[in-house]
Amino acid sequence: MAILPILIAPNPRLKIRAKKVKSVDEETAKLMADMVETMKDANGIGLAAPQVGVSKRVIVVDISSVKENSQPLCMANPEIIWASEEEDLREEGCLSLPEQFAEVLRPSRVKVRYIDKQNEIREIEAQGILSVCIQHEIDHLDGKLFVDYLSALRRKMIIRKLQKTQKLAGASA
Ligand code: NI
Repeated sequence: MAILPILIAPNPRLKIRAKKVKSVDEETAKLMADMVETMKDANGIGLAAPQVGVSKRVIVVDISSVKENSQPLCMANPEIIWASEEEDLREEGCLSLPEQFAEVLRPSRVKVRYIDKQNEIREIEAQGILSVCIQHEIDHLDGKLFVDYLSALRRKMIIRKLQKTQKLAGASA
């Protein structure tokens, strides 16, 4: 397994729509394992392949830090097949937008169909933090970041802050 570098916004690769995988073969299973390791190393609860520069519809989610006994979920080609009308406003963050947080309104519950790491088709119904996390990660596969839900002004302020931090990091590296 390997820890992969995480792309930081406004990297243009984060805006690309990722491609479906044909199946979860050895290569995709290895990508999933590397992504789980990378997510844990970064103390994240979710990670999407485009965030590590891989344009494939693969996400991993691990809410064990907020919910006991939960196992990391690895999903290829995840698809929301049902979403509740009821919505929740929750604060979100993102490993590609370090130290930036904002409230986003999303359906409270979703049903998701995906291929697991054993190449089996599965469905789950998610609510609470798991629902938010899965929706956030699927957005990454469509080149969408949580700041895209905010006003243009708020988004620009956040992106400008990130650009400044990266310039400073570059100057001292
Ligand atoms: Ni994210």
